[in-house]
Amino acid sequence: MKGILLAGGNGTRLYPLTKSVSKHLLPVYDKPMIYYPMQTLERCGITDVLIISSPKHLGSIAELIGDGNELGVNVSYAVQPSPDGIAQALVIGEKFINHEPAALILGDNIFIGDEIEHKAKKAFERAESGRGATVFAAKTDRACEYGVAVMYGDTVERIVEKPIYPLSDLAVTGLYVYDENVCEYAKKLAKSERNEYEITDLNNIYISHGKLFCEVMSESVWFDAGTPDRLLETSNFMRLHKLNKVVI
Ligand code: G1P
Repeated sequence: MKGILLAGGNGTRLYPLTKSVSKHLLPVYDKPMIYYPMQTLERCGITDVLIISSPKHLGSIAELIGDGNELGVNVSYAVQPSPDGIAQALVIGEKFINHEPAALILGDNIFIGDEIEHKAKKAFERAESGRGATVFAAKTDRACEYGVAVMYGDTVERIVEKPIYPLSDLAVTGLYVYDENVCEYAKKLAKSERNEYEITDLNNIYISHGKLFCEVMSESVWFDAGTPDRLLETSNFMRLHKLNKVVI
């Protein structure tokens, strides 16, 4: 399974912190933010990773991560010329993906606990045997900030991006596992009202083919560290976790 780590966007929700520095290099307690999604990929058994970032920040990210050796993965790099949305990573990464299944993780998503590895491995098997794509959902009390999964039993009926009135409390996290069709579907997307290629639109294509699975996480902690409050909350949590003061 190949992995794409998207460290793009302008990080405007963290301005002025991110005016000259990449959001993904900001500290989360004692490590740069990007280390965490890199480690998640590595712990899931992914050894080939493509990091995609903006022309402005790719150099400083490459300076930190290099060839990935220290983190136990082989890393290559690609540029996202402008922040045109998460789903564009799967078009930029087409050659790297090379008609195989692939996982995509967002550079500000932090997963704590072993559950994600077990669920991701199940998702890899699904993608590799042509059974479809998988998203991973976590309960939240801030559903309107995320893609929200509307479930009917174990089946995901649809995903709604940042709904004003969420129909569930299940946030779709920033780890996605796709089958070999992903680049073809990603290339068909049109830009949304906010002028982005939406990952939620891509996931809804899989739903329309009856091929999207949603794994609901119940034993782990997940953070999207993309706002000042969440960044601080994540750092504080990581500190306590490291000191063994919170057990998951
Ligand atoms: C993105 C996705 C959203 C997802 C979230 C997870 O939102 O669009 O569906 O729930 O990542 O972190 P963004 O953080 O870009 O607003």
